Amino acid sequence: MKLALKCANPAEWLALRAGLVPEPAAEAWGGMALSGVVVAAVRSGVTARLAGGQATAPKIAADLGLDPLPTRLLLDCLRSAGYVTERSGRYRLTRRGRRWLDPASRLSVAAYVEGAGDYWSWWAGLSDTMRTGTSSGSHEAGPADPYWQRYMAGQRELARLSATEITKKLPMPRRPRALLDLGGGHGWYSASLCRRYPGLTATVLDLPGSAAVGREIIAEADLSDRVLFRDGDVTTADLGGGYDAVLCFNLIHHLAPAQAAVLLRRIRAALKPGGTLAILDVFAEPGRRASAHADMLALFVYLSSGARVHTPGELDGWLRDAGFGSRREIPMLRMPGLSLRVAA
Ligand SMILES: C[S@@+](CC[C@H](N)C(=O)[O-])C[C@H]1O[C@@H](n2cnc3c(N)ncnc32)[C@H](O)[C@@H]1O
Repeated sequence: MKLALKCANPAEWLALRAGLVPEPAAEAWGGMALSGVVVAAVRSGVTARLAGGQATAPKIAADLGLDPLPTRLLLDCLRSAGYVTERSGRYRLTRRGRRWLDPASRLSVAAYVEGAGDYWSWWAGLSDTMRTGTSSGSHEAGPADPYWQRYMAGQRELARLSATEITKKLPMPRRPRALLDLGGGHGWYSASLCRRYPGLTATVLDLPGSAAVGREIIAEADLSDRVLFRDGDVTTADLGGGYDAVLCFNLIHHLAPAQAAVLLRRIRAALKPGGTLAILDVFAEPGRRASAHADMLALFVYLSSGARVHTPGELDGWLRDAGFGSRREIPMLRMPGLSLRVAA
């Protein structure tokens, strides 16, 4: 994936091609503006209101207790970004807007977008981070901090998008009974696998803030007897043993290389013979091929917790050293840049 300016007409195409457009100025200004508009549209309730039916800007503002002028200005920005259309002063969600931002859509990423506003201060502090090497320390937030709620609600939405594909493609031992989901947070992947395999029970091991939100999500899904939660840090907690499968989804990038290597050895010891380890994460070779997604994510995880995206070669070496003989990658469609790797 690339993040880039797109031209809206032939004259703009020519100007871009000819190098006349001051692209860094447009990127510095426009990236921030677009993020501000989309996050505010969700946080203020504008997109949820539009999902309930088309309306004029004054009516939307009145319904939500907002000021009519900035509300109309925001709606116009949403229109230029392709999320709403406007006819005779009435705004309505486009198909794309409804698909991704209607909270009732099964593809909604509205909670993720709402939580993304938490990251503005991280990016604002980037030049300080460059000097000091410090990160936002997001995983050190107290367990009662509302940050965890927003973080997990967003991650669960992303998981809901890819869970069906992953559950279908993941090779599991026959009649699996015990699953360990490390850093499983919201518990959605565990829940999907438990639904597919009737004899399966999952244990999610995660930091207390994530686990608390996960318990609520799984209780709402009426699966608390199949998906159990344990508070703990994967680098120090006892993992237990006798698992048919272990999930390590979007966790390894939060660990330093030495921690990841040790964890994979402990996972191997916790699996039954022939058990499956599934890893979902971004692995990138720095400088090999420019990929905005991988590069920005690498910087983002550093900003979030001082962590880093590892290379496919590093992962393969850790898996081999841990004693996993079979290692392969399963292509994924839904989340570009993420790869699903399975070892046994
Ligand atoms: C990006 S979220 C991924 C959640 C879920 N596995 C998924 O893929 O949607 C990362 C999760 O790892 C957890 N985590 C990070 N470091 C951890 C650690 N040292 N021990 C346990 N959990 C950790 C976070 O609390 C969070 O729930």
